[in-house]
Amino acid sequence: MKIHTLFSPVSVEDLYFAGKTTVVIDVLRATTTIVTAIANGAKEVVPVNTIGFAMKVSGNAFGGKTLLGGERNAKKIEGFALGNSPLEYSADVVKDKSIVLYTTNGTKAIVRAKYSENLFICSFQNVNAIARELAGLNQDVEIVCAGSHGMFSLEDSVCAGCLISTLENYVTGLTYSDASKCSLMLYDKYKNDLTGMLKESEHGKLLIEYGYERDLEFASKVNVQHIIPVYSSGVIKSKEKIKSNG
Ligand code: MLT
Repeated sequence: MKIHTLFSPVSVEDLYFAGKTTVVIDVLRATTTIVTAIANGAKEVVPVNTIGFAMKVSGNAFGGKTLLGGERNAKKIEGFALGNSPLEYSADVVKDKSIVLYTTNGTKAIVRAKYSENLFICSFQNVNAIARELAGLNQDVEIVCAGSHGMFSLEDSVCAGCLISTLENYVTGLTYSDASKCSLMLYDKYKNDLTGMLKESEHGKLLIEYGYERDLEFASKVNVQHIIPVYSSGVIKSKEKIKSNG
């Protein structure tokens, strides 16, 4: 079982993912927000890669129970119901809702990987659930760090390392690409102070400047959720919900 890591999705074309098992990570904040929304009972999250498309698929789509969420430059977009702070996605807000989500890097990374055979959404909060699922599938894995505008971002790479390190608890004889080895080293360096790592990261600093420091503390909590958000046919739902046809 070989683990590849991409430090940004922009280096590959959409078709690169065809038939693959892929995990997308955007710790600050898109995948943390998606995991939170799904864990808090959202019916589904619809990740989109343009604001225009977000407008088009919201409104009366999905039985009129749609909420538009997302950010531009980390701030809520005018006319959207929600921003991209995971703390906004509480059960009283999102339960049974379809959330159309646009973010600068995270949702674009998910859409880029849409041809994957299996596509999972991961954050520190649900690393163990994803690792167990990957172990069960026993296929090569592509870990996609959303990064930032095509560039490397520390927090996604550290989370990739956390996922790989957790996978080692379930699978022996894993092999790694150079980028995966690098992620493991970064995780080893930061694993005892993930909140500190987020505060040190470029995007973390920007979020603190904008008043979102609590998001960093929230995003650094490891294995507080046990859900497996799966992208299929344009929407993200929990694996459990898909199984029960919900
Ligand atoms: C993104 O997709 O770039 C992010 O999630 C940005 C953010 O909301 O902090």
